[in-house]
Amino acid sequence: METTQLDFLGELRRTHSCGDLRLADAGSRALVMGWVHRRRDLGGLLFIHLRDRDGVTQLVFREETDGPTHQKAQSLGAEWVIAAEGIVEKRQPETINPSILTGEVEIVVDKIWILNESRTPPFPMEESVDVKEDARLKYRYVDLRRPQMQRNIILRSKISFAVRQSLYAQGFHEIETPFMTRSTPEGARDYLVPSRVQPGLFYALPQSPQIFKQLLMIGGYEKYFQIVRCFRDEDLRADRQPEFTQIDLEMSFPQQERIYETIEPLVEQVCQVAGFQVKAPFPRLTHAQAMQSYGSDKPDLRLPPFYVLTELPESPAIADLKFPPIAIHVPKAGGLSRKERDDLKAYGAERGLRVYDDLKRLEPAIVEQARKVSGAAEDDLLILAGWAGELKGQRPEETFYQACGQLRLFIGQKYNDRHQLLNPKDFRFLWVVDFPMFEWDAEEDRWNAAHHPFTSVHDEDLEKLTSDPARCRAKSYDLVLNGVELGSGSIRIHRRDVQSKVFSALGFTEEEAKRRFGFLLEALEYGAPPHGGIALGLDRLVMILAGETSIREVIPFPKTARGTDLMCEAPSTVPERILRDLGIRLAGPKG
Ligand code: AMO
Repeated sequence: METTQLDFLGELRRTHSCGDLRLADAGSRALVMGWVHRRRDLGGLLFIHLRDRDGVTQLVFREETDGPTHQKAQSLGAEWVIAAEGIVEKRQPETINPSILTGEVEIVVDKIWILNESRTPPFPMEESVDVKEDARLKYRYVDLRRPQMQRNIILRSKISFAVRQSLYAQGFHEIETPFMTRSTPEGARDYLVPSRVQPGLFYALPQSPQIFKQLLMIGGYEKYFQIVRCFRDEDLRADRQPEFTQIDLEMSFPQQERIYETIEPLVEQVCQVAGFQVKAPFPRLTHAQAMQSYGSDKPDLRLPPFYVLTELPESPAIADLKFPPIAIHVPKAGGLSRKERDDLKAYGAERGLRVYDDLKRLEPAIVEQARKVSGAAEDDLLILAGWAGELKGQRPEETFYQACGQLRLFIGQKYNDRHQLLNPKDFRFLWVVDFPMFEWDAEEDRWNAAHHPFTSVHDEDLEKLTSDPARCRAKSYDLVLNGVELGSGSIRIHRRDVQSKVFSALGFTEEEAKRRFGFLLEALEYGAPPHGGIALGLDRLVMILAGETSIREVIPFPKTARGTDLMCEAPSTVPERILRDLGIRLAGPKG
């Protein structure tokens, strides 16, 4: 890199940001600072677009009136950092730039300071450049300057502020919980931190503050919240990172309704910050209804539900089905080609479904009922799906509903471009409530907690904990937005005897329960109030409100799908000496 004579910042102070200047400022002097965004050199006349966080301002350098300044400006390259001062002038009508807020004026510069040079950036700072994600992540500090990233990260900050405003106004206190702790069971693996002073012992980074927030309720704080980092070693996807942020809260003496009443105004406020109006109360569906109508515990309400067709006339076409067939209806997608229909049949078949796409082959009475219940119009797609195969799992009808739900979404997503079926600005929040208490783990041949093992069972299902775990409903709820699980929570178990029963239904021996959660079990014996709470994924919330499809777009320094930070190259090896201090010897590669 050629070295340029650089100037000092000294006592220089901005009078305006690069997004500030308007017609009313014409005639006054302005001093701005920022990055050289674009330059246009017309010989004796040089134009520079200067960019800062707030916008872009055009600088003009005229050789004729100020030769030395013009000459200095000619040496500037992309992304150099400068300060410039001059007179704000009204632009000629034909040179007004309506695409920037400051487009009616420009600064005719008579003083320039070069504060720093830049190497040629790895990619341009433009809105719509097609850059490989790996390059963006390696040079994240440059990528973060792009307008899209600036919008997303600043929106994230505003959303966090709105969350705090809403919760403080509702009487919550923000309280911190430890990062170096014991395992919290949220269904993923833990990240471990070895102890140097106690070799052979490890802290776990929290998968969530779950246990601590319960202890804060036992500690008498009544309304706790935290915008908090959580750590989970699990397979990564577009909506999952190994470290992510939760809006985590807990309340004493709540019914489920109290949690909804707390979250709904918070969500309204947050959406407003992002420029959207949503109206509470949000619809509520029980888990059973969500499965029966959408085949998903996180339904996307932008597509209509499907319908289970009961009381159908006998017909050979459906005689061998194990459950009543389901009518799937997708608006406007009626005119699919033969090939497209074959594709969706194949997609259904892969999931065990028999798809009836040609309704003319079915009894008219069946078709009539399907049309009636679904309300499908002539140009809508209406198909039937049935299950004739083997029954799978503890709740076999769910397997069937889930396959229908996947087919419904497959059609919606595949033909979205053609029919605009899933408008990203149509925010359809809902609560899915009363999840089953347990999920069957066929591999391990045991029940797992569907939410986590501290979740309360419905009062009337308490007896079923041992007799019929498959039918036990939990006092748990998810906040869902457009097919994404935004948050999850539950009313907790506050009684020691009930907690022991749930641990035993989950196959924990008393010793194991004591070893892992002894401190919590003990705390429940010291006047634990009824309590409950929820955690929303901040990254997912910001992602959807920013119109993005990956949470990496709303996290300043995210990791790749392999959990790598490409910029600082983490994770990394550590010197042998440090491992020795920690009492760790590597076993060599797995396998
Ligand atoms: P849960 O495990 O469902 O519940 O997490 C709550 C919310 O956190 C977000 N989330 C994630 N976001 C990004 N990357 C991940 N790897 C990731 N994992 C979870 C999701 C999810 O809905 N302690 C309970 C909450 C409670 O009961 O109060 C918990 O953590 O948006």
